[in-house]
Amino acid sequence: MKNFYKLSAAILFLLVIVGVFAVSFRQKNGGFRAAEVMAQTEDKKTQTAPASTNDSWLKGNADEKFAQIEKHLRGLDVAMAEIGYRYGELHFAAKQRNWEYAKYQTGKIDLTMRLALERRPKRAASSKAFLDEDVPAVLRAIENKNVAQMNAALERFHNSCVACHRSENVLHFRGAVERIRNNARR
Ligand code: HEC
Repeated sequence: MKNFYKLSAAILFLLVIVGVFAVSFRQKNGGFRAAEVMAQTEDKKTQTAPASTNDSWLKGNADEKFAQIEKHLRGLDVAMAEIGYRYGELHFAAKQRNWEYAKYQTGKIDLTMRLALERRPKRAASSKAFLDEDVPAVLRAIENKNVAQMNAALERFHNSCVACHRSENVLHFRGAVERIRNNARR
């Protein structure tokens, strides 16, 4: 009987050792079966090339790559195309008394303008009143959900767009700004 217990203990001990080896072997080999490893390798092959290969449109050293990205971010023209669209949507929102949407569009116009001025700081002086006074006036009217106040704030806002165009010598965009407003109000 004593021998039987001894033998059982020895077998149990051996099983534990084999178990530990089996687990550590699986971990060392990534714990994947051959089929899984193959599948992953296939996945990798179909992935797009990382930015550092010859396929990237960014060329040269880090400075040259940053200069390229800077060029692609563009200046005030692209920002204004976005602001023009959002300006029209703001008028739609005001017409429909959709205050949430009006607030969203005003916030995005403000952000677009500020980011554009980071890229083109020379234009900042001309847009100071627009950002410091006229955007907040629209936001206050939206907060109050007050139609008369909103109409007055939007009139001011419109004149502020045109005032900046005047001081930046691009008054030929006046027609475009009028057209955006008229189309949205129709
Ligand atoms: C910095 C002052 C400034 C403010 C404020 C401003 N603009 Fe402009 N806008 C410009 C300049 C500068 C251009 C010309 C950009 C260029 O030539 O690269 C322009 C161009 C435009 C264009 C023509 C974009 C294109 O390339 O097709 C539109 C549309 C426009 N602005 C609408 C607006 C509207 C609407 C507002 C007010 C919500 C506004 N802008 C406020 C300076 C401003």
